[in-house]
Amino acid sequence: MNESRALITGASAGLGAEFARQLASSGKDLILIARRTAPMETLARELADKHGVAVDVIQADLSDTAATARLFDEVNRRGLAVDTLINNAGSFGPDLLQDRDWSAQQKYMELMMISVAGMCHHFIPSMQERGFGRVLNVASVAGQVSLSGDTSYGPAKAYLIALSKGLAATVRGQGIHVLALCPGFTHTEFHGSDELTRMKKSSPAFFWYDADVVVREGLAALEKGKTVYVSGRLYRYLIPVLRTQVGQWIAGKMGVERDD
Ligand SMILES: NC(=O)c1ccc[n+]([C@@H]2O[C@H](COP(=O)([O-])OP(=O)(O)OC[C@H]3O[C@@H](n4cnc5c(N)ncnc54)[C@H](OP(=O)(O)O)[C@@H]3O)[C@@H](O)[C@H]2O)c1
Repeated sequence: MNESRALITGASAGLGAEFARQLASSGKDLILIARRTAPMETLARELADKHGVAVDVIQADLSDTAATARLFDEVNRRGLAVDTLINNAGSFGPDLLQDRDWSAQQKYMELMMISVAGMCHHFIPSMQERGFGRVLNVASVAGQVSLSGDTSYGPAKAYLIALSKGLAATVRGQGIHVLALCPGFTHTEFHGSDELTRMKKSSPAFFWYDADVVVREGLAALEKGKTVYVSGRLYRYLIPVLRTQVGQWIAGKMGVERDD
């Protein structure tokens, strides 16, 4: 069996590709997962040339119910071991009430929540056997603050925060760290739709962080053994403010509602 690797979902773009760059620069061998293989193959060649790391690319659609079991089998078939799991894949989703295609809603929940639980189910037990593991679930500030109109993305991220807390408590003392990383607005492909591009253009620049900062802070928090970490100083201040009565009043004017 090879040296243990970092497995990164959603590695074809944005934060996932940046996790790959930063982990490779520290000498970590990688397994990259997403639907689009071409950008991952390009990234794999770039990282192998630059850092001398081994990089495997596996195509998977994590909104498919069978995807995580198939991935686990494929990783084992290739003789690879995973000691670092970065559950990062995600997208903005359908509106629970307005979008009437229930099967699309279910696929979204599969991608955002069930696949993350599935990856943890498959890959954490071998970390327990080895007495070492790192699991980083990319959640969001949206998982900590309830927004009017956000009936699927924020709630899905709230589940990832709760899942991470439960797992962290369960594996405490076993050499395994589990972190829910909560980024705020970050420059990636995430806001590529017309609606989100308009939102991005109309929001102040200081709300936006670069992916390399978010990933660096996330990996440092994971190593320190934190369970939930909000990246970006602005957001660390904003969340507690939104939980005060005054903050709730201001948030109400902006369409943000109580989350407790
Ligand atoms: N950017 C932000 O402002 C922000 C803020 C908070 C949290 N986040 C979270 O950060 C994570 C990464 O997002 P990002 O900002 O880096 O967005 P991005 O640039 O759009 O990247 C999303 C990644 O997820 C993958 N993905 C999407 N659907 C998938 C599926 N069905 N199966 C497998 N992979 C899939 C995409 O790959 P393929 O399309 O090739 O499959 C891509 O690699 C997400 O969980 C997002 O919710 C982002």
